Amino acid sequence: MPDSKPRVFITRTIPEKALKMIAAACEVIVWDAETPPPRPKLLDELALADGVVSMLTEKIDREALDAAPKLRIISNYAVGYDNVDIEAASERDIPVGNTPGVLTETTADQAFMLLLAAARRLPESIKYVKEGQWQTWFPLQMLGQEVSGATLGIIGLGRIGYAMTKRAKGFGMKFLYHGGSTIEYVERSGAKKVDLETLLTQSDFISIHAPLNDDTRGMIGAEELKLMKNTAILINTARGGVIQTDALLHALKNNIIASAALDVTDPEPLPSDHPLLALDNCIVVPHLGSATHQTRERMGEIAAENLLLGLRGEHLTHCVNPQVYQN
Ligand code: DGY
Repeated sequence: MPDSKPRVFITRTIPEKALKMIAAACEVIVWDAETPPPRPKLLDELALADGVVSMLTEKIDREALDAAPKLRIISNYAVGYDNVDIEAASERDIPVGNTPGVLTETTADQAFMLLLAAARRLPESIKYVKEGQWQTWFPLQMLGQEVSGATLGIIGLGRIGYAMTKRAKGFGMKFLYHGGSTIEYVERSGAKKVDLETLLTQSDFISIHAPLNDDTRGMIGAEELKLMKNTAILINTARGGVIQTDALLHALKNNIIASAALDVTDPEPLPSDHPLLALDNCIVVPHLGSATHQTRERMGEIAAENLLLGLRGEHLTHCVNPQVYQN
């Protein structure tokens, strides 16, 4: 690295260990608020930055990159990187790092928790008790969907999708999958590859684990929801944009599917008066898939490592655009 310390903009407070790793080698500017830096502030900081640690809430697009003449590394504090224009970063030879692996099990825990909570109507039953509606026991009270032995359709059988099947195996579930996978995950899970239509029509639960890109944006719309069983439950812990929100709202209101459990939404966050939030058959939580102390710390360490490697001009441990090293 040059004599003067490189300047790094970190777009939110990250766990202490990662912050210290970065501060030991860099001049650090942290946007110390829960909400993202306003766009003009982001652009002003990028104008001066050698490196940035960005969150999924920051759009690092062409405009942002044009404003960042010195930028040498984008270290995204997430496994997903749909917030970064990878093509534009690659054109400028800027490597983009992400944090895969360390949040796999944590996110699958969240997805499976949502599956169970939606199947057994957990938020509704808690509300029922708190609101004083619990008068007695009766056979048709708060009935949910059976999880044991049900068919789970996984959209995107990658690391997290496979981790979801490991949990579901304990419940005797059967698996279908659509989209990308590896032989290892297919063999270990025993999941059967099917086209999207078959997955939608045959699954009792559908869990989305695909990245958001041009192939998956809006892939679950009115037509797809209509194909699902009216007892089906849709879980999304990937990215909100994979589902068309208005179509989902319509499907939930009209009992086209039984319920949905969303860790991610489009838009994100949902405004507090959004009609989805008024529905009993929709669980929405605020994008907490990787939110444990341990996982967020490990993500911080990887993000810091990627950042420091990038600033030194060395290959990142986790680089989503390795083509930059060919130039
Ligand atoms: C990710 O890493 O992409 C998650 O959405 C947040 O941890």
